[in-house]
Amino acid sequence: MLDINTIRNDFPILKRKVHGKPLIYFDNGATSQTPQVVIDAIIDYYTNYNANIHRGVHTLSQEATDKYEEARIKIQKHFNAKHSYEIILTSGTTESVNIIASGFSSLLKKGDEVIVSALEHHSNIVPWQMMCEKVGASLKVIPMDEDGSLQIDVYNELLNDKTKLVFCNHVSNALGTINPIETIIDKAHKFGAYVLIDGAQACPHIKPDLQKLDVDFYVASAHKMCGPTGVGMLYGKKELLEMLPPYQGGGEMIETVTFEKTTYAGLPHKFEAGTPNICGGITFGVAIDYMNAIGFENIQNRENQLLEYATEKLLAIEGLKIYGTSTKTSVISFNIEGIHPYDIGSILDKLGIAVRTGHHCAQPIMDYYQIPGTVRASLSFYNTTEEIDIMVEAVTKAKMMLS
Ligand code: ALA
Repeated sequence: MLDINTIRNDFPILKRKVHGKPLIYFDNGATSQTPQVVIDAIIDYYTNYNANIHRGVHTLSQEATDKYEEARIKIQKHFNAKHSYEIILTSGTTESVNIIASGFSSLLKKGDEVIVSALEHHSNIVPWQMMCEKVGASLKVIPMDEDGSLQIDVYNELLNDKTKLVFCNHVSNALGTINPIETIIDKAHKFGAYVLIDGAQACPHIKPDLQKLDVDFYVASAHKMCGPTGVGMLYGKKELLEMLPPYQGGGEMIETVTFEKTTYAGLPHKFEAGTPNICGGITFGVAIDYMNAIGFENIQNRENQLLEYATEKLLAIEGLKIYGTSTKTSVISFNIEGIHPYDIGSILDKLGIAVRTGHHCAQPIMDYYQIPGTVRASLSFYNTTEEIDIMVEAVTKAKMMLS
């Protein structure tokens, strides 16, 4: 059982007011809030050992390098990757996806096929469209069903010997539905295709075991997991990362440079050109420690209770429809008949409640439902049933004002 008061005290921002009302933060899918222990670690870095890494012989550089590499090992252990050098630290999920898309642009050829799911965020659609256009490969889509699940029978039909890559998110950012990634990975491997799973929305709720999943690539962002923005990770199996060309040229990613020829550094440095987000990497590790200290089983239990409670209360409002009803994490995407989601979001904001409104960078999902967008309340373990009550009351009020 979580002691919710202690947990809420870990997050100083939860004490602030917005428009004179206590902040109720239900936009965790966009970014989670930051516990004091991570804020302290950020301050500690800039106060005590801010230095560039992998470069200096001096003490500060050594301290920063050690902490950065310790963080990489924490991330490796958390995700159960086999080697720490299979964890590439990036600026976030989007960059991680682009590293893979850019790498495969030089490996795929005309006529190859790649498969994405209908539930993807734009960051897992556009890079693949760009890649397919460049090489003449074709993009196939696993369709979705009304409940926000994927049509796996169609996926089976899409797979063939020309399929080279499959991309799917672990959890849909717009709906919160959990995809059957074990099945998706297993079936793709039967055709020799590689699989990239976008774990950005799953990792705040689920602790994936990458070796057990046997996934080829897995990507995530720190800022959705109580860490800072501007840092994330790309996991890739050693032999696949070795096969891919570097994404960017620059310092730190080389072995030797002459004007005639450059040879590249080994993993992970081959994909980490330039000065990285050092403080971000270190404090990503601190955030992972924080979440593990709470425990993912505790997090899931609490979030499932909050999800169930909020779903029941919201559905009691006449005309309210929830999108995505299959197995899911604590995300509720909804609309009220005849009312634009933006208008509801604006009224909620005036009452101190932060939700996201719009297409959530997942326009194909909105097109499927033929709606302009939804109101998305994405809950976290530090939210409470009292906050849900206040939101339900506010949505009821908004409905009265806007009907
Ligand atoms: N991808 C983030 C979201 O779903 C920003 O809100």
